[in-house]
Order: sequence, then C-alpha cells, then structure tokens
Amino acid sequence: MSQEHIHRLDGRIFGDPGADGMVHRAFLRAEGYSAEQVRRHPIIGICTSWSELNPCNSGFRELAAAVKRGVEAAGGLALEFPTISVSEPFSRPSSMYLRNLLAIDVEETILASPIDGVVLLGGCDKTVPAVLMGAISAGTPAVLVTGGPRPVACWKGAPTTVEAQWDIIDRRRVGEISDADWAEFEGVIHAGPGTCNVMGTATTMAAIGELLGFALPGSALAPAAAPERQSIAEASGRLIVQVVSGGIAPRARITMASLENAVRVTCALGGSTNALIHLEAIAGRAGLRIGQERLREWSSSTPFITDVKPNGRALLSDLDAAGGVPAVAAGIRHLLHEQELTADGRSWGDVFDGVAPRIGDGPIADPAEPLTPDGGICVLRGSLAPNGAVMKLAGAATGKRRHRGRAIVFDGVADMWSKIDREDLDVDADSVLVLRGVGVQGGPGMPEVGHVPIPAKLVRLGVADMLRVTDARMSGTSSGSVVLHVSPEAAVGGPLAYVRDGDEIELDTHAGRLDLLVPPGELAARRPVTVGIAPPRRGWGRLYAEHALQPDEGCDFDFLVDEDLREREAR
Ligand code: FES
Repeated sequence: MSQEHIHRLDGRIFGDPGADGMVHRAFLRAEGYSAEQVRRHPIIGICTSWSELNPCNSGFRELAAAVKRGVEAAGGLALEFPTISVSEPFSRPSSMYLRNLLAIDVEETILASPIDGVVLLGGCDKTVPAVLMGAISAGTPAVLVTGGPRPVACWKGAPTTVEAQWDIIDRRRVGEISDADWAEFEGVIHAGPGTCNVMGTATTMAAIGELLGFALPGSALAPAAAPERQSIAEASGRLIVQVVSGGIAPRARITMASLENAVRVTCALGGSTNALIHLEAIAGRAGLRIGQERLREWSSSTPFITDVKPNGRALLSDLDAAGGVPAVAAGIRHLLHEQELTADGRSWGDVFDGVAPRIGDGPIADPAEPLTPDGGICVLRGSLAPNGAVMKLAGAATGKRRHRGRAIVFDGVADMWSKIDREDLDVDADSVLVLRGVGVQGGPGMPEVGHVPIPAKLVRLGVADMLRVTDARMSGTSSGSVVLHVSPEAAVGGPLAYVRDGDEIELDTHAGRLDLLVPPGELAARRPVTVGIAPPRRGWGRLYAEHALQPDEGCDFDFLVDEDLREREAR
C-alpha cells in the first residue's frame, strides 16, 4: 500500500469548527473565496500541467476554468494546482526519463493537500500516464480530462497533420525541400493548441483514459479548440463530485479486465506502442502485472480496424464523427469485457448499445475484414529479445513482417548520424538497421529515436521502409517496420549488445519472433558493446539509474510499483 494513510488530510478540515478549520479557511479567504465557498464540500483539486514549455498543454488554463465551473455547479469548491510538465519535443534526455518524476509529484501533492478528489488534466504524451500513475498510488478519487487534438494544418493547399514532418525532414536531408518551403512549413504545421492530431501516443493515451474509466466516454477526440472540449471539462467537474460521494478509488478502476479492454482497443486503433509501456506501469501501481504473454495473446487476436492517420487515410475528426473511441470499441465488443465501467458509471455494454454502428462505412473497418491480417501491434520474443519487443504493424510495410537481413549496427544516435547518409555505407534495402544504447539506461529514458532514418542513398532510390531494430521507443506519429523496446536493452548487456555488422537477424511477426541467427558458441566468445551515458552520481539521474525498470515492467521505478505486487514477484 502507499503512504496515503500516514499523513492523509482531506477537505473536511475546512468544515472543522475548531482552530484547524479556522486557520485553513482563513488562508483560503486570502485568495478571495467567500465565507460560504470555504465551507463547501467536497474540495476538488485540479491538477494542471500547463506550461509554456509544453505547447501541447497550452489550452489547460481554459480547461481548468471549465472544470471549476462544473465543480462549483455541483456544490463543491475547486482549487487549481500545478504539477511539473513534461513535453515530448522539449524535454531532454527524453520525456520518459521524467514521467516517473511527474507521477511522484502528482502523488505527493495529492497526499499532502486538503482535497477530497482530483481532476487530472493530461495532454502531451507522458502527462496522461504520469497523472494516472500518481493518482492511483495516492488513492484519491480522480477523473481525467485530456487536452484534445490540435487543429489540422493546411500545407500547399492540403490538410496536413503532424506526421507529415517526418517526410519533410527526410526530403530535406536529400535536398528536395527548399529553404523557403522549410521555413513556411515551420510556421503552419502546428495550427493551434492541443496534442498531436493523429493516432499518436497522446491520442492513444486519451483513448485509454476512456477505457480505464477515468475520462468520459467519447471525450478523447474532441478537438482542443472546440467548445465541446470545454463542455467535457465542465461535465468532468460535475462528475468528480459524484465520484467523491461514491468513494470510488482510482485503483478500483484498474482490473485485468479493464486493462485487457485498453490493450485490445489500442490494437484496434493501431495506437502507439508507447501505450503498452504505460499500461504496464499503470497496472503495476494497482498491484497487477499484465506480462508479455497476455500482451501477445490479446494483441495477436485483436483486429486492426481504424483507418486514421498516421497509419491510414482519415483524420481524427472523421473518426470522431464516426463515433470516436466508443465506436471502435463497439466494433470489437465481442472481445471486450462489457461489464467494466465507464467514468460516468455506465457499463461499456450500455455504451455500445447506444452507439449507432458505422462499421465498414468510413474510418472504422468491419472486424471481419480488418485493415491488416495480423493486428495493429505485434508483441515479439526471441533470442534477440528474451524479455520482449514490440512492433506497430499498422503502417508497416507488409513485405517486412517476415524478413531476414544482415545487421548494420549503430551505437547510439551520434554514431547513427555520423554514418547513415554516407555514400560508402554498406547497406541495401534488405539490410536491418540496428540502433542500440538508447534504452531505459542507455538513452537514458528510451528517447523516441527508434525510427532510424532510411539512408539517404536509399531514399534517392525510392526506398520508403526498411526493417529497424532498437531498444529505443518511437513517436506514435511515426510508422514503418520498426521493432522497438527490445528488452533487456544493450546498455545492461542484453543480446542486442552482442550484435555485429553483418549478423543475420530474422523477424517473423506471424510467429511473434525476433532472432539473432548467430551460433551460441560464437556469441559466447563475443564481448558486449554497452554504450550509453555514464550514470549520474547525484539527483534525479542517480535515482533513475538505480531504480528504473525495463520496458516489459513499464519503466516505472521499482519502489513505486505496488508493494504487494513486488513481494509476490520476488517470491
Ligand atoms: Fe505533445 Fe505530440 S508532442 S502530444
């Protein structure tokens, strides 16, 4: 159990007739609240990660105000508080390196504060899992409001979404984008506040927020700038007052059934591979372990049915119009646990009954005729990844799903950039590009660098996809044949550390295998190459180096995982 019982304070302190109550009320009165307001119950915290260093969350001030209106309309008092903000593009060495810091900050601030419930504002990729992890460990009733996708840009007269940047960057590398276009693109691609406007990590995590019963069903895809987003926030403010009166702890929402629903819908959406790491971390906070075998079973039996960018053709707004996350989930309802509850207390079965099916008409395919034959996400295991690896099949070239090729190894990002565009790089379209030393410890923090660029000389020949293998992560806005999260990572001596240029690597997504085809005797004679940054001796870096778990355990810190689970696993 967490430390919640040691020093827990709640909003009832403001109703205390004695000195404690007077002192607490007096301080709130200094903020301008009336005598009536400071006697309200419940007291709801609004946890916001607004920051000018996190453009994806720049709409949170307006959202917090809307939540506040909802709380007050339901008779409570809402008090906004900041948490640290982790930005995918701005945070170094990676956003994942800081996810657990954000989760600790949320947990401790909730525990330290006189509040009865909390509305969590999450947007940019790591902010959603982090606030959920913190709230689950704190144990205070919680509702999630996500930021919504940013507006679609217009580039050269066509609707353009964030993943277009990868193509522009690649074409610039080979001299196909002029200085003028380069400058113009910068000014138009992000057309307002909100999260990446495709089925990237932020949108996937917003969908998971719905599936786990923290965010209102149907809320994930409402645009950041739309009035509907404000209405969702206000309704969530009303909702948290109900959740508090029902005494529903966040941990109660995390069951193996709700986790299975979340994983399966992620696969049906063709969602971000990052979500699997976050779901394992969320499970761990609630005393559960999903494990690689369940992930393999669930992902391999779930059809990929959502034809949206970056894997498909439609915009998120098209998917929203087709019913959003509930409609996709309804399409695979035969695979889901319908008795699991939504944030507003209905069962998912009730929600599905109310969804007008538009399956096979628009961006949601008929599950009997899925968009790929083998699912949206593939969980792999084999001699190169004894503890697992993952590949997003949605958006990967079908020709690479069974592939054998010779490795070209890059030891870290600097090594990769020093070689990738050289004319004398011994590479062809069948080669396997291996990027190692960029995992949990090597990165550190598994930076999103796994989408190794296609070598320039092959780009000029029209090669659009190659098999890549890495211990890094990849942006949810990317696609391609990339095996990610190879565990154990190279920096801790995993098999990836033993690969040499020219070794044969074999991928078979149908069999769920990733193998290094080097005889065991030859491997045993090799020394591992363990590149990476030397572990810091102080501060957060030291804590991270000593306690961060590998991706198959969610990259949480060992001491933040539920204690009972750790004890069970240690036996
Ligand atoms: Fe923040 Fe994509 S970079 S949501």
